[in-house]
Amino acid sequence: MNRFSEPPDPDFDAINRSLEVDKRLWPFDVAQSRAHVAMLAAQGIIDAEDAGVIADALAAVEGELEAGLFRFEPGDEDIHMAIERRVSEIAGEAGGRIHTARSRNDQVATDLVLFTRHAAEQTIASVERLIGHLIDSAEAHIDWALPGYTHLQRAQPVYLSHHLLAYVWMLERDRQRFQFVLSQCALLPLGSGALAGVNFDTDRGRVADQLGFAGVTPNSLDAVSNRDFIVDYLSAAALCATHLSRLGAELVLWSSQEFGFLELPDRWTSGSSLMPQKKNPDAAELLRAKAPRVVGDLSSFLGVLHALPLAYNKDLQEDKEYLFDAADTLALALSAASGMIEGAEFDRARMAEAAADGMIAATDLADFLVRRGVPFRQSHQIVGKIVRETLAAERDLSSLSLDELQAYSPDLDADAVSLLAEDGWLESKASAGGTASLRVREQLAAARQLLG
Ligand code: ARG
Repeated sequence: MNRFSEPPDPDFDAINRSLEVDKRLWPFDVAQSRAHVAMLAAQGIIDAEDAGVIADALAAVEGELEAGLFRFEPGDEDIHMAIERRVSEIAGEAGGRIHTARSRNDQVATDLVLFTRHAAEQTIASVERLIGHLIDSAEAHIDWALPGYTHLQRAQPVYLSHHLLAYVWMLERDRQRFQFVLSQCALLPLGSGALAGVNFDTDRGRVADQLGFAGVTPNSLDAVSNRDFIVDYLSAAALCATHLSRLGAELVLWSSQEFGFLELPDRWTSGSSLMPQKKNPDAAELLRAKAPRVVGDLSSFLGVLHALPLAYNKDLQEDKEYLFDAADTLALALSAASGMIEGAEFDRARMAEAAADGMIAATDLADFLVRRGVPFRQSHQIVGKIVRETLAAERDLSSLSLDELQAYSPDLDADAVSLLAEDGWLESKASAGGTASLRVREQLAAARQLLG
């Protein structure tokens, strides 16, 4: 008997239970129980014999869960209760002592911080893998020219290596953000009890050591209600997924027949059930579409936390849906991005043709006039006029004769003619961080250092 006079409404049970979602926390739940029980025994809070029986039962439960043989019961509200129930079935009376000096509030906080730490480590490894593929591809295409774009209009040519390395720096910032997440997972909440601490002489430091934490949380109220590390993971994940959506968008464009800059590996594309000629960049499209979902996880969970009074509130149970969804979605997106970058076949001729667009040298021509002393605004106007009239005549800038150039400006002399003919537009971008080969090689070396 307990204090309730009627059984829960079935829909209360449905809205209240979290087992289906939090099941996957079991490895962390078992690990913390193991550490907790060892501490209780070391401190003389439970006797060594009981601790031994519980440890054996935990090992048995772990085995069942690992093998998929664990039988969940209708009364198992969440994974913590399911494991405790089963431990008690196996260990008998001793099992009832596993929850001494612990509440599900500090227990779930501990599982979550362990899960988040693990997820951040996995994410960092996947980000590093993608960075590695981008660097390898940059190296393999070090001097392959393609147009660089602004407003999706051809702007100035760049090397493909330079373009791919741009993503490396984005992802490096992501990696740093996930490392920050790890730093936010460094303190153990267990031992905070329901909210106020516990009535036993525990040794939290011992549990922290065993579970790989740098220390213990300094305030029990904060410890049981802190989910900031989840927000940190979600926000790092939202931005990382957003970066991948930009990469995905480019892969979609570049693999189109209109661009024709690359072909995606077959294993990352699909065919059409109707049109046999088609090869669809589904995974790249999904890189675009999955990002807002992860951003939604972040904003939804911030909504859950908004205005929550201290300390634990059942609202917090919702944290897992967002955290797991973001971690799973990002893991798939990173894997897809790695696979597509690793297997993409770039079309050098097609990109070079686009980069040799007759008008793409316009900035270089304007800068040429500047070097001859013409103020930039004025040179921009002169070249704008040249571009307009040359386009109208359906010609390229490089086809303009000395006389034609001179008619626009006396400063456009023979050197201007050779500049237009020379194709030297990429190598002249030798400013630090620019696309000239020398600079790209520097970048490549710096990028390689990131991976140690
Ligand atoms: N399933 C709960 C959660 O995920 C565990 C904590 C329950 N604590 C409580 N006081 N009801 O948050």
